[in-house]
Amino acid sequence: QSDEANQILEAYQWLSKLYHHLLYHSKDGKDGLKYLKERGFTDQTIEKFQLGFSPHAKEFIAEFLEKKGYHRQTMVKAGLLAVNDRDEYYDRFQGRIIFPIRNHIGKCIGFGGRTITHQEPKYLNSAESSLFQKGKLFYNFDLARSSIRKEGVAVLFEGYADVIAAYQADVSNGIATLGTSLTDTQARLLRRYVDTVLLCYDGDDAGLEATYKASQLLMKYGCNVKIAALPYGLDPDDFIKDYGADKFKNDVIEAGKTYMAFMIDYFKKDFKLHQEGDRIQYIERVMDEIAKLEKPIEREYYMNELVNEYNISMEVLTEELKSRMRTNN
Ligand code: UTP
Ligand code: MN
Ligand code: MN
Ligand code: MN
Ligand code: MN
Repeated sequence: QSDEANQILEAYQWLSKLYHHLLYHSKDGKDGLKYLKERGFTDQTIEKFQLGFSPHAKEFIAEFLEKKGYHRQTMVKAGLLAVNDRDEYYDRFQGRIIFPIRNHIGKCIGFGGRTITHQEPKYLNSAESSLFQKGKLFYNFDLARSSIRKEGVAVLFEGYADVIAAYQADVSNGIATLGTSLTDTQARLLRRYVDTVLLCYDGDDAGLEATYKASQLLMKYGCNVKIAALPYGLDPDDFIKDYGADKFKNDVIEAGKTYMAFMIDYFKKDFKLHQEGDRIQYIERVMDEIAKLEKPIEREYYMNELVNEYNISMEVLTEELKSRMRTNN
């Protein structure tokens, strides 16, 4: 690594420490701390995730970094500072709660900043750079790695707050993508660590759509996919707040369904099952998915469900399966 790359990495560590300090020891930070406490995050959790706050002080961060010996131009290039046409070097995260984003060895390489005053966007992220590539890492992978290994399962969330709330609820194998959909690189990375990925996305249309897409990608790389569904309108963090940690662990995480069990239900939304034509199309849709399953025992199991539920013969379904598997291969 070049000297400049090392310098930038070091600057991120300083800035992360400063933000965390300012959450507890600055006038503006008090609002941030109050906000986090109201969301139910404890001091211990705030410490663990090194949450911070960026105060409303235009050149404060620039001056701090300069005193540490970093040049303003370098900091702009590194995405630590922004510069305007009046040559003011300012912090884009001013007035926001800071979620430091760490790489796999625990070094801060970027930030997510959440508004506490309904600004747009809700979350601002560090700009992409050679150091910080959102599509190549997971939030919290460094802390979650040992539990992920031990349990053989990674729980994938949508948001920073979900990972942290889950951690507080004693689910320590949680990670999240950084506001983008799961990428091939991330799916491949995950497959190196686990057989099973439990998807626990937000309970809304976007979350369901993302669940379907992420499942396809994870299965493409050989992951066993399970899905923990939330009541409509709640995300994991909301659920924990409303129903508590135990219910989250038992009724959401532990109750995760297999991919097929989930999809058999999920596809129903596109069809009017009381109409014959739609019912047939629905069965064909489910058969498309069954044909993608790797294990014969799984294929047979779910075909049996269709046999029982829709009064179709196993012979016909077996024919349907054969023709699909010929085209899949
Ligand atoms: P959500 O909108 O579900 O936010 O986006 P959240 O995680 O539930 O956040 P809270 O609970 O309101 O604080 C999920 C994730 O998408 C990214 C963030 O990583 C967020 O955690 N995101 C969201 C952005 O990058 N920018 C945005 O403006 C919004
Ligand atoms: Mn501290
Ligand atoms: Mn969402
Ligand atoms: Mn959410
Ligand atoms: Mn949320």
